[in-house]
Amino acid sequence: MSGFDASWLDLREPADHRSRCEDLAKMLARHFDWRGQISVLDMGCGTGSNLRATAPCLGPDQHWTLIDYDAALLEAAQSRLAAWAGRAEKCNGRLVLHKDGKRITVELRRADLAHDLDRVFTSRPDLVTASALFDLASADFISEVAAEVVRCRAAFYTVLTYNGQQRWTPKHDADAAMASAFRAHQTRDKGFGESAGPMAPALLLAAFDAAGYSVSEGDSAWRLEAGDEALVGELVPGFAAAVRETALVPEEKVATWLTLSRNGALVGHTDTLALPP
Ligand SMILES: C[S@@+](CC[C@H](N)C(=O)[O-])C[C@H]1O[C@@H](n2cnc3c(N)ncnc32)[C@H](O)[C@@H]1O
Repeated sequence: MSGFDASWLDLREPADHRSRCEDLAKMLARHFDWRGQISVLDMGCGTGSNLRATAPCLGPDQHWTLIDYDAALLEAAQSRLAAWAGRAEKCNGRLVLHKDGKRITVELRRADLAHDLDRVFTSRPDLVTASALFDLASADFISEVAAEVVRCRAAFYTVLTYNGQQRWTPKHDADAAMASAFRAHQTRDKGFGESAGPMAPALLLAAFDAAGYSVSEGDSAWRLEAGDEALVGELVPGFAAAVRETALVPEEKVATWLTLSRNGALVGHTDTLALPP
């Protein structure tokens, strides 16, 4: 159990998908130019949301390896992906999805990325991807992943990395203090050592730039408004709980902040595409 349950990932998936930077997705599609066959490694796959959003940008024969350390999420990924494709079968322990004229083979693997990275990179993927992962990871982990990607001469595409921006609607006087404490919480250890948190996009850019990759970034902020009440309703108490854990904002202020009803939010994210020279 990772602390990310399937119902939370289900709730955020529509916002995640519509917030992805379209320009970067188009650049990714152009890079592979509908190549016949492609192998993809998805790190921290959860229930397979990244595959559901990225596969339409890629060619007709895709081989995905989905990695997560949470057995329950891997189990949920199988059923969510089969339902998404409409037509799915099991073949040699793999899931084979047929969707919009594409054949997508999926291998689900349980591994702890913080400790098993070399085991994860035993094959040579054409594309290494992740969604909502790298702000949880440490600066060292980001360097290690970049080194592995470069060694494979693979392309790298990661979306929805938290970048520290946070705005609520309506505003409250304590918003700035709350956001600052939340950013501090985001740097706590999430299993990889001290997290890069909002620094993750800059670290990814620097690591791939130093390796001679061509790096592009795009905005993928959640812009939550009417229709997103359920997600905003989960975010507000989660945000306050994280702030409380830091003890950086007096309890009275947190409690007052919580009394204001919110109907919207902006949560800043960055997408990163790094292409080999
Ligand atoms: C915020 S969720 C994102 C899930 C999915 N990529 C998505 O966009 O819905 C982070 C995911 O990373 C996984 N994860 C976190 N630390 C991990 C680790 N050390 N090894 C493998 N998976 C990890 C969690 O189990 C979770 O599925």
